[in-house]
Amino acid sequence: MQITINQSLLTLLEGDITEQDTDAIVNAANKSLLGGGGVDGAIHRAGGPAILEECRKLGGCETGDAKITGGGNMKAAHVIHTVGPVYGGGHHDEAMKLASCYRRSLEVASENGIRSIAFPSISTGAYRYPIDEAARMALAAVIEYLNSHTDITEVRFVLFGGNAFSAYCKALREMRE
Ligand code: APR
Repeated sequence: MQITINQSLLTLLEGDITEQDTDAIVNAANKSLLGGGGVDGAIHRAGGPAILEECRKLGGCETGDAKITGGGNMKAAHVIHTVGPVYGGGHHDEAMKLASCYRRSLEVASENGIRSIAFPSISTGAYRYPIDEAARMALAAVIEYLNSHTDITEVRFVLFGGNAFSAYCKALREMRE
């Protein structure tokens, strides 16, 4: 599914983020930035040890913030590591923190001259954020940023599995009605 927002392309696709050829891919990391499972594990496996070596020098990352490294062996030249909120029922500013992950990742991309970026569905795996609500928050945060920044020419959401892909397509359709 693809739409244009203020001259930027917003694409939803089903696939593996480690295979994307955007300038940057975003990692759903944890505060240590020292690797984990899920998409974090996949990115470190595909990118190789150089990424972890760089992460070690970053001193961790707060929830809702984002930090950048190289892309190691992957097609993407950069990885932007962000830390999503652990979902605890929705009364601990989870929505604001999740939106911040997308906004801060895009700000770091703009600061580094990155023009195309791919996101996974942050916090919807081990961090248990309900996918439908997360999809709405993610898309709203990205669309808000693209409406005021034309330097980013393409944003992809790379969804792993049909359920996530359907949830994001549904959320985007509802937002555009
Ligand atoms: N490409 C794209 N998306 C992927 C991939 C992949 N290769 N692998 C997993 N995903 C998806 C999951 O299906 C889920 O929808 O990424 C989304 C986020 O799930 P997690 O990777 O579990 O991330 P999150 O929920 O943010 O939890 C972060 O898990 O791996 C640890 O170190 C990480 O502690 C941190 C926590």
